[in-house]
Amino acid sequence: MTTEIHSLESYKEEYRKSVTDPEAFWKKEAETFTWFKPFETVCDWNFDEPNIKWFGGGKTNITYNCLDRHIETRGDQTAILWEPNNPDDEVKKYTYKELLDEVCKASNMLKSLGIQKGDRVVFYMPMVPELAIGVLACARIGAVHSVVFAGFSAQALADRVDDAQAKMIICSDYNNRGKKSIPVKQVVDEAMDIGCNSVDTVIVHKNTGFEINWSDDTDQSWHENMAKQSSVCEAEPMDSEDLLFILYTSGSTGKPKGVVHTCGGYMVYTCYSFKNVFQYKKGDIYWCTADIGWITGHSYIVYGPLLAGATTIMFEGVPTFPDAGRFWDICQKHKVTQFYTAPTAIRALMAKGDEWPAKYDLSSIKVLGSVGEPINEEAWHWYDKHIGKGNAPIVDTWWQTETGGIMITPLPGITDTKPTYASYPMPGIQAILVDKDGYELTENNVEGLLCIKYPWPSMIRTTYGDHARCKQVYFSTFKGMYFTGDGARRDENGRIRVIGRVDDVINVSGHRMGTAEVENAINEHPNVVESAVVGYPHDIKGQGIYAYVITQDKTTNDDFRREILAVVTKEIGPIAKPDKIQFVSDLPKTRSGKIMRRILRKIASKDTGNLGDISTLLNPDAVQDVIDNALV
Ligand code: WT7
Repeated sequence: MTTEIHSLESYKEEYRKSVTDPEAFWKKEAETFTWFKPFETVCDWNFDEPNIKWFGGGKTNITYNCLDRHIETRGDQTAILWEPNNPDDEVKKYTYKELLDEVCKASNMLKSLGIQKGDRVVFYMPMVPELAIGVLACARIGAVHSVVFAGFSAQALADRVDDAQAKMIICSDYNNRGKKSIPVKQVVDEAMDIGCNSVDTVIVHKNTGFEINWSDDTDQSWHENMAKQSSVCEAEPMDSEDLLFILYTSGSTGKPKGVVHTCGGYMVYTCYSFKNVFQYKKGDIYWCTADIGWITGHSYIVYGPLLAGATTIMFEGVPTFPDAGRFWDICQKHKVTQFYTAPTAIRALMAKGDEWPAKYDLSSIKVLGSVGEPINEEAWHWYDKHIGKGNAPIVDTWWQTETGGIMITPLPGITDTKPTYASYPMPGIQAILVDKDGYELTENNVEGLLCIKYPWPSMIRTTYGDHARCKQVYFSTFKGMYFTGDGARRDENGRIRVIGRVDDVINVSGHRMGTAEVENAINEHPNVVESAVVGYPHDIKGQGIYAYVITQDKTTNDDFRREILAVVTKEIGPIAKPDKIQFVSDLPKTRSGKIMRRILRKIASKDTGNLGDISTLLNPDAVQDVIDNALV
C-alpha cells in the first residue's frame, strides 16, 4: 500500500519520517509499483554536477503501471472520459482495457513507422484522446515524448523540434476551440518548411476532417495506420533513469529549455502526490482543466491519475463555450469530485457573474485545486463560496515544470487552508527559505527565496542537450540546493505563501514566459532598435506583458503596434503578445549598459512613488520620459 495520509497526525508523522530517513520513505513508496527488475539503490545524488539518480538498477515501464497493472482490478472502469468542445457531441469513454488496447496499437504503429527506444517524438495536438494515447504509446516503447502546446507558432514548434532532434511529429488536422477551428497541420507544414530537418514522418490525426495539405513523402494517417495494428504490445523494460519525456519551458534568458524527466522517479512521485493531494477514492471522477501541452496535464491528467487507477476527464474545449457556465455544466454532468484549475480561469469566470455556477448542481465536488500562479484572496474566496459552497477544501498547489509534481500544498481535510497560502511541503519535500546569500532562514514570519535542499524523485535531471545550463540555472545560485526562482514568505505557523518569480520570468494566465524571449521576438521587427519587457499586475491574467520599445524611425502609431504583435505571434504564439506597448526614445540603463528592469517594472505597475536612487544611471533623464508617457 502506498503512503496514504488521512489525518494531521499522519501528515506530521510521514513528514518526520521522510526527513529523518528519506531513503526508507521513498523505498516503501516505490515498492508499491511493478518493477520488471527491482531497484538496488534508492537515491544517488550530487547537486553540484548535478547528478541525480533514483531507484538505480531498477527496470519498469510507467505504462505497465498505468494500464496493465489495473486490468484485473478495474479493467472495465473508465480511465479517460473525454468531453468534446461542443457539448452536443458525443462524450467518449475509454475503460482501462480499451485504453490499453489503443495504446498498444499506437505503440505498434510507432514501431512500424520506424520509431525506436530513445527516439524523440513531438506532439502538436489539441486535447483529444489520441494525444494521451500517443504519449502513452511513446512511453510504452521507450520513445521520448515532447508535447508542444498547440498554441505555439510554427517557429516555436520548429525550435523545439530542432532542439530535441525529433524524428517524428504527431499532430491533428484542426483544433476545435469554442466556435473556432484552428489549423494545426498547417502550422506543422510551416514548421517543416523552416526547420525540422530531423523529422522523417508526420502522423496526422483527422480530428475534424477539414481540408489539409498532404505530403506523400512524410505524412501518414493516424486512422489508417492504427487500423492495421495489433492490440498487443509488451511494455519495454526501461531503466529508472531512462528518459521519459522532454517538456520545454521558459527561463529568464535565451530560448526555452527542454526539461528532462525520467521513468522511475517521475512515476513514483506523480502517483504518490496525486493520491494524497486529491484524496482520490474509487468511484471518484477527477477533472483537471489544464492542457497536456503543459506539465500539469502530463502529471495530473495523464500519468498521476492513471497510475492511481482513477477516472480522469480530458476536456477539448474552452471555459466560455458555449457560455460561461461550461465548466460547471461539465462538473454537474459527470458528477466531478475533484476539480483542478488555474487562478486565471477562476478570475475570468468570476468576472462573468455568480449566476453561472448558481445554475448547476456542484454538490459532487469534494476537493478544489488551484495551480500555476499565486491565487489572489478574492478569487480564493469566490472559488470556495460559489464552487465549493464552503464544503470543498482548496488545495493551492505550488510546483513547477522542473519539479514534475506538486511540492507545497494543503492536504484536503487534513491540513488547514489559508487564502493565498500553498501551505505545507509534501512529505519528502525539504522546502526551505534562504536569504540572498543562501543562508537558511529557520524561523517563522520571514520572507526569502524558495529552495529545496534534498532531492525528490520527480525532479529535473537535466536540460536536454545542455547540462551546463541545468547546473547554472538551478544549482549554482546557492550551493547544494535546488533554487526555484520564486520568492516566498512563511507565516507564524510555518505555512508557505509563494509570492512569485524573482527572476526575469513572468506568469501570464498561468503561462510561463521569459521576458528575454518576448524581447527577442519584438526585436525581430526591422523597425525596432531595442525593447524591454516586464510583467505588471493584471486583473484576469495575473500578470500582463508590458513592452517598452525604441523604434528606428520614431513611428509610434497603432498600426506599428499591430505589426509588433504580429511578429510576436509569429515568433512565439498569441500567448506572448504584449498587452501594452509603450514607444520610448530611451531605456534607463546602468553605467555598464544593463537595462534597469526594476524601474521599468515599477513604472508599468503604477508604482513610481519610490524608484530608488536613479542618479547613478547612465541616463537618468530617460526615467522621467518613460514615466510621462506610461500607458497606465
Ligand atoms: C511557476 C512554475 C506547476 C504547474 C504549472 C506551472 C508559479 C505555480 C503556483 C502556486 C504561486 C505558483 C511559480 C512557479 N506557480 N503554482 N500555487 N502559487 N505560484 O508550471 O509553467 O513551470 O511555472 O509558476 O512562480 O515557479 P510552470
